[in-house]
Amino acid sequence: MAATPLFQAQGLTKVYGSGTAQVVALRDVDLELVAGEFVVILGPSGSGKSTLLNILGGLDAPTSGRVTFRDHVLTGATEDQLTQYRREHVGFVFQFYNLIPGLTALENVQLVTDLTRDDPHHRGAEDPAEALRLVGLGQRLDAFPAQLSGGEQQRVAIARAVAKRPDVLLCDEPTGALDFETGKLVLEALRRANRELGTTTVVITHNVGIAAMADRVLRMRSGEIVEHTANPSPVDPSALSW
Ligand SMILES: Nc1ncnc2c1ncn2[C@@H]1O[C@H](COP(=O)(O)OP(=O)(O)O)[C@@H](O)[C@H]1O
Ligand SMILES: [Mg+2]
Repeated sequence: MAATPLFQAQGLTKVYGSGTAQVVALRDVDLELVAGEFVVILGPSGSGKSTLLNILGGLDAPTSGRVTFRDHVLTGATEDQLTQYRREHVGFVFQFYNLIPGLTALENVQLVTDLTRDDPHHRGAEDPAEALRLVGLGQRLDAFPAQLSGGEQQRVAIARAVAKRPDVLLCDEPTGALDFETGKLVLEALRRANRELGTTTVVITHNVGIAAMADRVLRMRSGEIVEHTANPSPVDPSALSW
């Protein structure tokens, strides 16, 4: 029996600008995401990856087409509804970590878990120290961002995103600013969060090597999903080479 999709997107088209300056960022994209899966989106720069991710995350709206999250139609939701949707259900990880420099690793995560606990609609947060242990930073709770490497800062950002127990973690080139070995540790952290907490995870990357660790790989070109591959036996990220 097929699992019920967490997301269903139909006929997503996104057009930026108008007239001769018009850019079609997405063309008639259909997509389903199943709860718990780890999906990698590959494709060259400008192929529409971020646009697709931002629409799933309620940061942007398509020009046409429809997206549902469980029973909720995101397309057509008000700004307030989208804010609520992002707060309750979505974790974001971007290329740059956006940590607060004056707060320790633990305090950066706590900031989010405290907000989450105050939200009556929310199902509760992870313990912040536990979230940092999950990403391998249990020994660095009291370090400030400037005392951490780029990869460690990104793992704090991942801990911060997963600590609010989102239904989906959307990662836009999370290893884009990192070298190979450091990037691997970040991917291991994402995979561990996915396996241990069951967080549905979507990772955008330029790096084809990352695809081997995914349950499913989508390849984009010129605003379309041109290839769609299920991976029955994803490798452990520590075994990756690229
Ligand atoms: N806010 C915007 N205004 C105009 N064009 C945009 C905007 N955002 C993205 N684009 C264009 O849409 C296309 C897809 O962009 P994007 O989704 O960011 O691609 P990717 O993440 O794969 O690099 C590109 O041609 C890009 O220049
Ligand atoms: Mg992008």
